[in-house]
Amino acid sequence: MERKQILQTAVEAARRAGQVIAERYPAGRNVTVKGYRDIVTDADTAAEAIVLDLIRARFPHHTIISEEAGGSAVSSKPGSGYTWIVDPLDGTTNYAHRVPVFAVSIGVLEGGKPLIGVIHDPLRGQTFVAERGGGARLDGAPMHVSHVARLDHALVSLDWGHSDEVRGRTLACLHQVAPRCGTMRALGSAALALAYVAAGWLDGYFHLALKPWDSAAGMLLVAEAGGRCTTLEGEPYRVGLPTCLATNGLIHGELLGVMCA
Ligand code: IPD
Ligand code: CA
Ligand code: CA
Repeated sequence: MERKQILQTAVEAARRAGQVIAERYPAGRNVTVKGYRDIVTDADTAAEAIVLDLIRARFPHHTIISEEAGGSAVSSKPGSGYTWIVDPLDGTTNYAHRVPVFAVSIGVLEGGKPLIGVIHDPLRGQTFVAERGGGARLDGAPMHVSHVARLDHALVSLDWGHSDEVRGRTLACLHQVAPRCGTMRALGSAALALAYVAAGWLDGYFHLALKPWDSAAGMLLVAEAGGRCTTLEGEPYRVGLPTCLATNGLIHGELLGVMCA
């Protein structure tokens, strides 16, 4: 029963936050630089407040980790077993530049294991949902990863980390993958890219410096849609690990081999 309420709350919170993000989209942005190549807007913090208020009101004893609230646990009572991991606006740089690719991402872990994943794209009105053992759905319809089995036919996506060091390593991977795959994209929202792998729209995606809020929902979506997520060393991916390769499973080994060559 609690699981159903958690899922409903995650969807409701993502949609409410998405509505505010979309309403503010045409207006001017209030942008603050919070780190190297890292910005935050008024929409990030407004969306975060909506999500956190709803979770706290319904589940006061659950732990919450949310990006703009410092990225650490902002409310916690040991023993509840549930941890909400929130990215109120994934794709802030796109949002600030008016590239219409961004999303709200909410993942819930139970005893450290992914339980629920919700990614909501407010401009397209698309909600991607996954439940451990319950499959993945897009706006209620079952979702499955693609059937592309050859890297030279595959659409592979990546995103850039913020540091020069991560960018250098990402470039080295790009140098290996680009000549061998169908073609490549960089969307600017890790959460949406993972949702697109789950939906079968992208065949693979990699990132070398993910934060827990970038991947908590998306990795469950990929797994429940029949795909595979590992680190770049080929270990099973866990929320909190920096490197992630998410694919339809069919091209995973080939892509991993190419990237690590
Ligand atoms: C960013 C996006 C981007 C990824 C960055 C993230 P934010 O999240 O997911 O695609 O390359 O590493 O920080 O800051 O827009 O929530
Ligand atoms: Ca993010
Ligand atoms: Ca964010």
